[in-house]
Amino acid sequence: MITADNLSRVYHMGAVDVRAIRGVSFAIGRGGFVGIMDASGSGKSTLLHVLGLLDRPTTESLTVDGVDVLALSEREQTRFRLDRLGYVFRDYALIGELSALENV
Ligand SMILES: Nc1ncnc2c1ncn2[C@@H]1O[C@H](COP(=O)(O)OP(=O)(O)OP(=O)(O)O)[C@@H](O)[C@H]1O
Ligand SMILES: [Mg+2]
Repeated sequence: MITADNLSRVYHMGAVDVRAIRGVSFAIGRGGFVGIMDASGSGKSTLLHVLGLLDRPTTESLTVDGVDVLALSEREQTRFRLDRLGYVFRDYALIGELSALENV
């Protein structure tokens, strides 16, 4: 179960604030299968990065599998990603300086 309450993510670009996610609230039940569709630049990737604990939202409520994931330390978030999240990147997200094994 994933529960988001008034989730936002603002990118601060110098003097400009880019509001990529604006106050999104939803719940996805266990075993739920959800597709997100909208125009380019509407915030889909930003939302997935936040849900995947790869980025922090600007507001403070996100529960995944009953865990308040924003309260976890960075190390605990890493463990959580390893144990409970799967993520297929469109761009593969490989780190060039690392070997294939280190990337895995
Ligand atoms: N790292 C960043 N720094 C600043 N602005 C960003 C950053 N990443 C995304 N944005 C901006 O946030 C908004 C949402 O971008 P996002 O990449 O989440 O959209 P998207 O729905 O995934 O688009 P696409 O369909 O093209 O993949 C856009 O205005 C984008 O320019
Ligand atoms: Mg995208």
